[in-house]
Amino acid sequence: MSFAAMPRVALANLPTPLQEASNLSAVLGGPRILIKRDDLTGLGLGGNKARKLEFILADAKQKGADVVITTGGSQSNHAAQTAAAAMKLGMECYLVLYRGVHPENQGNMLLYRLYNAKVEIVGEKSADLPKIMERIDRLAAELRSQGRTPYVIPIGGMMPQGTLGYALAVSEILDQLKQQQGSASYLIDCCGTGGTMAGIVLGAKYFKADFKVIGISVSAKAEVLKPRIADMASQTAQLLQAELSFKPEEITVYDDYIGESYGIPTKECIEAIKLVAQTEGIILDPVYTGKTMAGLINLVRQGRFTSKDTVIFMHTGGAAGLFAYHKELSA
Ligand SMILES: Cc1ncc(COP(=O)(O)O)c(C=O)c1O
Repeated sequence: MSFAAMPRVALANLPTPLQEASNLSAVLGGPRILIKRDDLTGLGLGGNKARKLEFILADAKQKGADVVITTGGSQSNHAAQTAAAAMKLGMECYLVLYRGVHPENQGNMLLYRLYNAKVEIVGEKSADLPKIMERIDRLAAELRSQGRTPYVIPIGGMMPQGTLGYALAVSEILDQLKQQQGSASYLIDCCGTGGTMAGIVLGAKYFKADFKVIGISVSAKAEVLKPRIADMASQTAQLLQAELSFKPEEITVYDDYIGESYGIPTKECIEAIKLVAQTEGIILDPVYTGKTMAGLINLVRQGRFTSKDTVIFMHTGGAAGLFAYHKELSA
């Protein structure tokens, strides 16, 4: 089966730009850096979930769903983009969230209201996910008893349909590199659940990319993420009926940039956000892309990339969450 045969709804503005970050490269004295602007996907305030939701919500529609339910922290970009997509497709949206670091009515919490999503806070942190999933099961049963058809999207849209979106993003990047008559040696991606990275490693193998994919974790340890990413990439290859499989050893993830924990920005993350804003006029976020850029900067400083390399930084979005972190960012 080809990608074109997979059910899909149009939600994202594609292709997103692959933009030269020459000021940032110059300041770092390192490799050529290209930023893949998936913060400009255009669904809500943009971000990586738009590509995933094109396939996930097509599956939901095909199954007759009229309500979507998903989860994440109170500042979940995934939850906000899911709510935006649900509104666009005329579906109702329930968000069963954990409190997380910034539950105030700012950033994504504010956006949920604008999208008229039904928000319920269950639990304090991601470790409370089993309790949240129990609540989601009960909610789905309640909705079914009212004659509705709910569709549950796992945290981060971590499912094979979502992964398809990022496999296709690789094909888009390869086309753009070809148009620019260039090539890349590395692609750096942020790993939360690891679903985006699973798509990218699948796409890199499927479309024969010659760049190496490096994941920077903002949450889980590398030993947890590598098998999860390999497994999701293999499951998605099966969905595509592509004869590809993945082993944890072939996945590269660094977990040195998480800091105290998920959702708490490190000093290096805040420095990276300011550096990219002040060199390129591009806004990163304090939970995902700021830490990922801190990883890229550190790898340049370690001499991992040289001035002969071209490194693609996948900008997965997250700007909405920024405003909930105004105190940390103003310090
Ligand atoms: C802005 C941003 N970047 C990266 C990620 C991580 O994506 P994944 O969960 O697919 O690893 C997320 C997940 O919510 C996100 O919101």
